[in-house]
Amino acid sequence: MEIQRLIRAAIDVLPTSYVPYSHFHVAAALLCGDGTVYTGINIENAAYTPTVCAERSAFFRAVNEGKREFAAIVVCGGKDGKVTDYCAPCGVCRQVMREFCDPKTFRVILARSETDYREFTLEELLPESFGPADLKG
Ligand code: THU
Repeated sequence: MEIQRLIRAAIDVLPTSYVPYSHFHVAAALLCGDGTVYTGINIENAAYTPTVCAERSAFFRAVNEGKREFAAIVVCGGKDGKVTDYCAPCGVCRQVMREFCDPKTFRVILARSETDYREFTLEELLPESFGPADLKG
């Protein structure tokens, strides 16, 4: 799938984010190994800590449906839903990506528009990481 279409999928769901506290909208579009796409939005909570980021929303939707292979994720967001800058995934979301993705090949795309984006591997965003293989004896 083209990056542009993945970015469009994320931008399209940005208004759905539930952000009554921060007013900082974030959306993600996760491309699975089989070509399917799962979007996610951030969902905040009055008790604050139960808040879930857009990236984890997308991953958990996909994993719930049995997906285990992932190629790329687009992230976009901004205050009041205006995407003025690149929105990088938080550390917790990077670690969730690490659970399911090969750090050397999984692509994290931070988009401001369909033509304005920055691309990283997960390894670039989460070097020297701890993953499932570390638990094997
Ligand atoms: N947020 C995300 O959805 N993804 C990130 O990686 C960064 C932060 C959300 C969480 C919260 O709803 C809002 O942005 C402000 O932190």
